[in-house]
Amino acid sequence: MKILVIGSGGREHTMVWKLAQSPRKPTLYCAPGNAGIESLATCVPIKADDIAGLKAFVQSEQIDLTVVGPEAPLALGIVDEFRKAKLKIFGPTKGAARIEASKVFSKEIMASAKILTAKAQSFDQLAPALAYLDQHDIPVVVKADGLAQGKGVVVATTREEAKQAVRDSLEHAVFGQAGQRVLIEQFLDGEELTIMAFTDGRTVVPMLPAQDHKRVGDGDRGPNTGGMGAYCPAPLGTMALREQVTKQVLYPAVEALSRMGCPFQGVLYAGIMVVKGIPYVLEFNARMGDPETQVVLPLLKTDLLEVIEAVVEHRLDQLTVDWHDDTAVCVVMTSEGYPGSYQTGRAIHGLPSTTDERSVVFHAGTGRAGAEVVTAGGRVLGITGLGKTLAEAQAEAYRVTRAIAFDGAHYRTDIAHRAFARPA
Ligand code: AMP
Ligand code: GLY
Repeated sequence: MKILVIGSGGREHTMVWKLAQSPRKPTLYCAPGNAGIESLATCVPIKADDIAGLKAFVQSEQIDLTVVGPEAPLALGIVDEFRKAKLKIFGPTKGAARIEASKVFSKEIMASAKILTAKAQSFDQLAPALAYLDQHDIPVVVKADGLAQGKGVVVATTREEAKQAVRDSLEHAVFGQAGQRVLIEQFLDGEELTIMAFTDGRTVVPMLPAQDHKRVGDGDRGPNTGGMGAYCPAPLGTMALREQVTKQVLYPAVEALSRMGCPFQGVLYAGIMVVKGIPYVLEFNARMGDPETQVVLPLLKTDLLEVIEAVVEHRLDQLTVDWHDDTAVCVVMTSEGYPGSYQTGRAIHGLPSTTDERSVVFHAGTGRAGAEVVTAGGRVLGITGLGKTLAEAQAEAYRVTRAIAFDGAHYRTDIAHRAFARPA
């Protein structure tokens, strides 16, 4: 069986690594991939948003199944295109992916499904948005409607900062088309949790709960990033909370999308803010999280390929999905300057040459310069440590991280700190 994974980050390296463990021994391809994925899959230089190019490749190579990693091709309608051509693909259609690609649409779904979320108003005109802010409590959150590579959200602690965010988006078009509409949203004070789920549009199978670390620096300081590390399972996601999220968030969202004529197949990601024990939805994504995937998939016991096929073939109700009783911690190493501008092409030293049962180095922004592996992005590597306890997993992740070096490398030294701070 031939499988193509689309994407080039740590999430996609993890998906390829997991699929490579399938007892069915699929032949793997990745477009465009990275220097780490190369050891497990044939990397083909087609960009993740080049839908025509990807389709032509799948047809000429007779690929049996395509698995989409990032949101961009989903929002462009890759699944619709592939289905029209009778090609098997894992991911939601363009219509269903709007749950991520439009925050206004996402709020409509939540309203129709009675899902708890922060109160919000949408605006496409500057004057009414600014007037609304004059009346609003502070802090307040300003969000660009569309996909803005994780940069479209400002949590403003002053009214002036909020107004500036609105002007940047509506007047100065810093997010282009994606920011031509903004949401002004109530600030929720709580702790964040990620719950992703496999769904075939009818059955929902939640994955283990994870927690991301969005800020660049220790102690959750500094600007927001794509994610500096994660751990799983997060103790904040108790059994009771997971059941509540499944019943009151995931199923209602999937049912609402079906009612609207755009059934969702793939991975639905719920970004939750837990406020005094109550889960509010901050956002939905139409794909797996990055770096959450790097800690969730290593704990999946069932063959990922079986799960993906059950989703694509609408028979998830017939599959039991099992998990290992372990803990995973992922530490992300980034380039100097990230999330601002950064240089690439720096040689990476100390990458482990052998595979290890208790740790995996997932590549994100890496490439090759001759025989050397070099940096090629903001987030460079994600080092996942596994253990029976959180402390063991964390120690393992940092032991491997400390042995790797490149000029200007940065990583947080406190991944999983919130879990340790919780009362036992
Ligand atoms: P989003 O892309 O919607 O997940 O937002 C990015 C980050 O902004 C989230 O992970 C939160 O840390 C923060 N955020 C978003 N919405 C809110 C909110 N209503 N209240 C507090 N923080 C928020
Ligand atoms: N880690 C957050 C995301 O993937 O959107």
